[in-house]
Amino acid sequence: MSTHPTILATSNVDAGTLAGLAGCVPGLIGDLRSDHAGETGAVAIYLGILAVARDPGIRRFAEAHLATERDHLARLGALLPPAQRSVLLPLWRVAGWLTGFLPALFGPRAVYATIDAVETFVDQHYEEQVHKLPAHGPGGVLKALLMACQADEVHHRDEARAAGVKAGGRLTQAWQWLVGTGSALAVKAARRV
Ligand SMILES: [Fe+2]
Ligand SMILES: [Fe+2]
Repeated sequence: MSTHPTILATSNVDAGTLAGLAGCVPGLIGDLRSDHAGETGAVAIYLGILAVARDPGIRRFAEAHLATERDHLARLGALLPPAQRSVLLPLWRVAGWLTGFLPALFGPRAVYATIDAVETFVDQHYEEQVHKLPAHGPGGVLKALLMACQADEVHHRDEARAAGVKAGGRLTQAWQWLVGTGSALAVKAARRV
């Protein structure tokens, strides 16, 4: 679970403030829509894993990460009005669920490789946005929220990497490529709709 105190301050970023910020930061609403869609997918990934995994270590890993992703989703949901959210949320839920469920059929190593690939992508995704936001004012509060989420994702990635294998076989590498590419396409779509 995320424990960053700076995140609490985002309750001060209301709809009017967000609209004002969007006028100064190009693509802000699209970015936040993609973040909200991504966290929706992340919650679904861990639900997909937990639907099938029996290994106690994987279940503990997935339950702990699920709590953090639900926290991220709640914070982004509090920020982004329903009218601004992706219309494709049901698709992101299904895609996320399958991204967790399918590797979980193959066992812990496949799950760790998947989370490594997902979180490597999400780290870069947040990194791009953090640079666009100012350090102070409401933009700074938003920046702190995204940086806190990013820090959690990096922690998730490192945990998966430490528990998994250094380099998987060709099939694992192809799956990781697919996960990274699919995530990039999903972000592109969610930025628009
Ligand atoms: Fe997250
Ligand atoms: Fe994560």
